[in-house]
Amino acid sequence: MTVLDIRAPEERAQWFIPGSIHVNAYNALKSGDAQALKGVDLPTDQPVVTICNAGNVSQVAAERLHKRGLNAFSLRGGMKAWSLAWNTAETKLQKANVLQVRRTGKGCLSYIVGSASEAVVIDASLKPDVYLRLAADRGWTIRYVLDTHVHADHLSRSRALADAAGATLLLPNQKRVAFPFTPVADGETVPFGRSRITALSSPGHTMESTSYYLDGQALFTGDTLFISGVGRPDLDASPDEARERARVLYHSLRRLLELPADTLVFPGHASEPPAFDRKPIAERLGQVSARIAAWLRSEGDFLATILDRIPPTPPNYLRIVELNEAGTMPEGDASELEAGANHCAVS
Ligand SMILES: [Fe+2]
Repeated sequence: MTVLDIRAPEERAQWFIPGSIHVNAYNALKSGDAQALKGVDLPTDQPVVTICNAGNVSQVAAERLHKRGLNAFSLRGGMKAWSLAWNTAETKLQKANVLQVRRTGKGCLSYIVGSASEAVVIDASLKPDVYLRLAADRGWTIRYVLDTHVHADHLSRSRALADAAGATLLLPNQKRVAFPFTPVADGETVPFGRSRITALSSPGHTMESTSYYLDGQALFTGDTLFISGVGRPDLDASPDEARERARVLYHSLRRLLELPADTLVFPGHASEPPAFDRKPIAERLGQVSARIAAWLRSEGDFLATILDRIPPTPPNYLRIVELNEAGTMPEGDASELEAGANHCAVS
């Protein structure tokens, strides 16, 4: 299909659906300009899906195109709905299955790890029903819900999921959140099914950031280590704090990279919106390590590289952190707060 984005250029600059084409027609369509889509060249042999922010003006666009004889549709809910669209990819390990649950628009990656009849969920970013249903379909009972850190780019649904599943909420040991949880300390191991998951403290992106090591085979790195980058150390930090966090991150990364090279790395985010292709976003630690080896030659090199590459600060992150620390969801529309692409990585 052809995806036609009709939003203003400044809206599109923030984020867009990959492969979509753009025409700045929002205002013209909204004001009833009959010429708004005139001259827009679209293929006639495939459906066209129009997109705006909330899915209203895109409906007007679809009607216009329909009148032109095109097989046109409007994406219901627009980019806000896109923010919550998700798909899955599965990886079978010796004792466990890793189901990667991907929020396509934002690139947030969460995980259900099932072993025998039990499961743990890591970094839930979608509503609890999604995880409950996916687990139930596979005959898994969710025993533990874990977060790798206090997130700044999406609202954590882990607390709500733990409640809904009757599971234990495990969070890195910290004093940031204001609700009850069971702290996991560095080196602590949680058995479930035939598997075990071990917490490895990996501060830097945030000071409580923790990675989870599964059966000596897989590593869930949150926003500490990505397939081709590392977590940004500067959110909610002064320049001096960011420098200190980057230094701490360097040592965390050195520690993680000592694990066996064939360990599968499952990160907390994808740099591109995950396609609906069922291909897991994961990579062997050896390959990830090779990619960032030049950055890690020395602490000094690392600081210079990473502090020079900090991406733009994401919108709304302070409010999102505040809500995640309180353990509550905003009143009304969460997708408004979470709109936009992810900016957690330095790559
Ligand atoms: Fe993060």
